Amino acid sequence: MPFVFDAYGTLFDVHAAIARHRAAAGPDADRFSEIWRAKQLEYTWTLTLAGHYTEFWTLTQRALDFAFARVPSVDPALRGKLLDAYLTLDAFADARAVLRQLKERGERTGILSNGSPKMLAAAVETAGLKDDLDAVLSVDAIRMFKPRPEVYAMVTAEFSCAPEDVVFVSSNRWDVMGASAFGFRPVWVNRARAPEEYDDWAPAAVVPDLSGLMAISG
Ligand code: LAC
Repeated sequence: MPFVFDAYGTLFDVHAAIARHRAAAGPDADRFSEIWRAKQLEYTWTLTLAGHYTEFWTLTQRALDFAFARVPSVDPALRGKLLDAYLTLDAFADARAVLRQLKERGERTGILSNGSPKMLAAAVETAGLKDDLDAVLSVDAIRMFKPRPEVYAMVTAEFSCAPEDVVFVSSNRWDVMGASAFGFRPVWVNRARAPEEYDDWAPAAVVPDLSGLMAISG
């Protein structure tokens, strides 16, 4: 049974970019990083609702520029460094071991992400996850973002399986909603202990970190 992972926020720590430059970014670093992430996601939703598409790397840059404008205490000279860091984000500490254990158990594994192929290739390479992934799927192939059902359908097409065969793992609760609506078995990685939401689209399981997945059978 395939275990398919969201990338940003789930396998890769989106706040690792600012963490590498925290001293230079100053006291508003965390707020800056939250705005960067929130705007990046907002652009995916609004463009998709409007029937348009611009690739995630461009949206990531535009969201960063918005964050600089919104939080003037962070020096815009950091732009290049932050973008470089975003391309080579740190994976969460448990990501590699969990993927390896799933492979050892005989599961198929993959990534389904809004990220562009270039971003995903760089992140997977940096984190050393390549050998433990059977597929790295980017929405760029169909030019629309999550949570469109067409995006989740890329997984069932890739693995030639039914939605209910897929364990879909995301730390983004709205992505869990989309996965649940599509018929996957969604697992919510709630590292931040965020409150539950999207009542009609509950996760099949909630885990505090990726290692919690090992208790879930494929
Ligand atoms: C992704 C975004 C949702 O990787 O983080 O698809």
